[in-house]
Parts: sequence; C-alpha cells; structure tokens
Amino acid sequence: MNKRVLVTGGCGYIGSHTCVELAEAGFEPIIVDNLSNSEKIALEGVEKILGRKIEFIKADCCDAAAMEEIFEKYDFSSIIHFAAFKAVGESVSKPLDYYRNNLGSLINMLSLMRKHNVPNIVFSSSATVYGQADVLPVTERTPRKEATSPYGSTKQMCEDILHSCSVAYPKINVIALRYFNPIGAHPSALIGELPRGVPNNLIPFVTQTAAGIRPMLSIFGNDYNTPDGTCIRDYIDVTDLAKAHVCAVNRMIEGTGHSNYEVFNVGTGRGVSTLEVVQTFERVNNLKLNWKFADRREGDIESVWADTTYANEELGWKAIMPLDETLRNAWRWQQYIDSQKK
Ligand code: UD1
Repeated sequence: MNKRVLVTGGCGYIGSHTCVELAEAGFEPIIVDNLSNSEKIALEGVEKILGRKIEFIKADCCDAAAMEEIFEKYDFSSIIHFAAFKAVGESVSKPLDYYRNNLGSLINMLSLMRKHNVPNIVFSSSATVYGQADVLPVTERTPRKEATSPYGSTKQMCEDILHSCSVAYPKINVIALRYFNPIGAHPSALIGELPRGVPNNLIPFVTQTAAGIRPMLSIFGNDYNTPDGTCIRDYIDVTDLAKAHVCAVNRMIEGTGHSNYEVFNVGTGRGVSTLEVVQTFERVNNLKLNWKFADRREGDIESVWADTTYANEELGWKAIMPLDETLRNAWRWQQYIDSQKK
C-alpha cells in the first residue's frame, strides 16, 4: 500500500504533531512548508521523537510550479493540508493575504491532485464555521453561521470549494476536520506551539505568563451567561487531534466513508471555561499565575463545544488525554523552549 502522505504546513503546531502520529502509524509523511509561521526546530523535534529523518521540502503551496515539481517527484496516497494563515485579528487587517493564501493554496492542491491522480485530502477546518450556535453542543449538521472574520470566511469557503470538487470529481475524497481549541504539546515536550510575538490564543499566553515572559494574563470577560461568567470552549489535546488525522487518512485509503465528502467535529465533547483552564493550569503545575479579569475581547463567542458522536462512531477516534495532562505538557514545553533559548 502507498503510505506516502504529503503534509503541507507540517512544521506548524498541529502539522508537526500529526507527522509524529503518521510515522508511528506506519505512514511516510513528506513535509512541505514555507516556514512563514513555523520553525525548522519543529522538524528537528519530530525527528528526535521518531529517531529518524523526515523528508522536508521548503516550498510555498501557492507556488504552482514548485508544487508541480513535488507532485512529479512523489506519488502521494493522500494529502493533509494544514498550510494556512490562522490569526483571526490579522485576517481583519490583511484580508487579501488571507484569501490569497488560504484559498490559493487549496486550489493548487486540488488541481494537482486531479492532474497527478492523488485521491485523498484531509482539510484543517475549524469550529469557527459554527459561530455562536443556537444549540449546544454543535453537531456536524448544526448550520454554519456567517463568518465573523476573513479567517473564518476562508475556512467556510475552503469547505465549499472542497465540497464542489467532491461533486464534480468523484475520484477525489475529502475529509474536513473541524478543530475545536487545540492545546498542549507532545508528551515528550520536544514539539509544541511556537507563537511569534504576543500570543493571541489562551494557552501560550498562560504558559508565557507563568514563565515571566508576560506580566499578566487577562481573562477576557467575566459577565458572560455561563456558570462562572467566562467563555466556554472545547479544548482538545494536540496529540489526540493529530491522531484524528491518521484515522481520516485510513478511512479514505480503506474507502470506508459514506460519501467522498465528509465532515467531522474534532473536540472532546466537553465545554470548559477560561477560568477553569487557568485554575487547572495552576493546580496541576503547582504554581500561581498572575491574572485578572478584563473586558470582553471583540469577536469572541460565548460558548461552543462539540458533539463528537459522529467522529467517535465513524472515525473510530476519541479524545482521551485528560485536561490535567495536557496542561502539564503545555507547561513542560514552555520550559523546554525557554531552556533552549538560554
Ligand atoms: C480562535 C478562533 C478560532 C481559531 C483559534 C485558533 C474564532 C471565534 N476563534 O479561537 O477560529 O481556530 O483561535 O487560532 O474565530 N482568552 C483570554 N485571554 C487571552 C486569550 C484568550 O481570556 O489572553 C480567552 C478567549 O476570550 C476565549 C478563550 O480564552 O474565550 C480561548 O481563546 P483562544 O485561544 O484565542 O481561542 P478562540 O478565540 O476560541
């Protein structure tokens, strides 16, 4: 069986963890990354964990000629397409960059898949496509709400492009994974999230505050209509999330899907508040974090968590990592990268 999988954005946070899981499951990941928002040390971490080299090609997925060369050289069974811009705020100020990069790279992938007969693609979608749903938890059938940022809009449009292609080109199989809030780091603490500049996401801000890089964490809003007044999210461990990609690739290779376009929620099925995350982080790592309540952050939704029944039953996948463990790994990873800088 052809085990070669093209992993675009494979040096990124979720991409690097997925390469580890793919390789451990007997696949041969081949990474294409332009390193625009990732570092080669992610690749080194992956190789350390695996104890062997992983093929890496520095290229931009929007560069059709460079990608053509790669598709000519390798015979891929599947593609996992992570490469994309992902900062919500930045997408508001640079919409063209987001539409060009996120849509352009996917369109290139699909054109090359057709030309070179690569049948399978897993796409990194997001729970952002649901917006603030009327009914919680959200299932895959929950109607998508109008996107609140160009970033969210690219995720919806990419899903639509993939759906249209699955209809027009029946040989192409698509699985879109809607990620909830990926957090944590590999248990080895050799790979993890590497935000550039001031982190936008909660966990890197928490770990950087614990490390003294940031003076204080602001919890955005304590007047939401939730039990403790802070927002609720479905925090999914990055290794659990990575494993969902292996299940998705297997499903397409084995042809066990119900159709050639499928969507799965990838979350834990449990909603946790921001305050609970912060307090759990303090407890499991035995430290005190500087934090305060601050105003709500514009664009934040109040609550979202996943109904994961469909993924559990159909993908044969389930999130298993306890939040305590995930938050310990996140802190160990922060300490590891800080020690590397010294
Ligand atoms: C956002 C995006 C999501 C994207 C994800 C990963 C939306 C609505 N959400 O998720 O699409 O996939 O980032 O990039 O587009 N918080 C604080 N203080 C902080 C940082 C965060 O209190 O310093 C709170 C937020 O208000 C939120 C929770 O922590 O309630 C999680 O925030 P974050 O990690 O940024 O993820 P989302 O906004 O849920």
